[in-house]
Amino acid sequence: MNIAVGSDHAGYEMKKNVLSWLEHHGHTFEDMGPYSEDSVDYPDYAHKVAEAVARGRFDQGILMCGTGIGVSIAANKVRGVRAALACRPEFAALARQHNDANVLCFSARFNDLATVEQILESWFSSGFEGGRHQRRIDKIEPCCC
Ligand code: RB5
Repeated sequence: MNIAVGSDHAGYEMKKNVLSWLEHHGHTFEDMGPYSEDSVDYPDYAHKVAEAVARGRFDQGILMCGTGIGVSIAANKVRGVRAALACRPEFAALARQHNDANVLCFSARFNDLATVEQILESWFSSGFEGGRHQRRIDKIEPCCC
């Protein structure tokens, strides 16, 4: 899989671990920033990753910030993106199986590395189940506003 990865300053350190995990598991990726711990605005990086996925440059995206909430809200503003905030590994699996989520978001501050690795394992070992879930996804877009 080719993965776009981004964060804000709060996710900067955890992002390094995520990149190592991806490399170790044979994924290709692009680190879309930030490239230091200097304070940045999470929508800038969430939009960068989400737009790259929506345009088909990457199969999926991974985003992290302090809570994961900000990046998930911002990423979901990009048409074609289904960003899922996974608070535990099971959420990551279900986001793939039921929601065909294409951007994984999580908290860099409220998860330890072991949990993040479990979230990544769940995400990458799960696939979309289709069927009734496709019908529900079709009802998400286009949105009414
Ligand atoms: C940054 O302090 C923090 O607000 C951000 O990382 C994120 O948690 C926002 O949702």
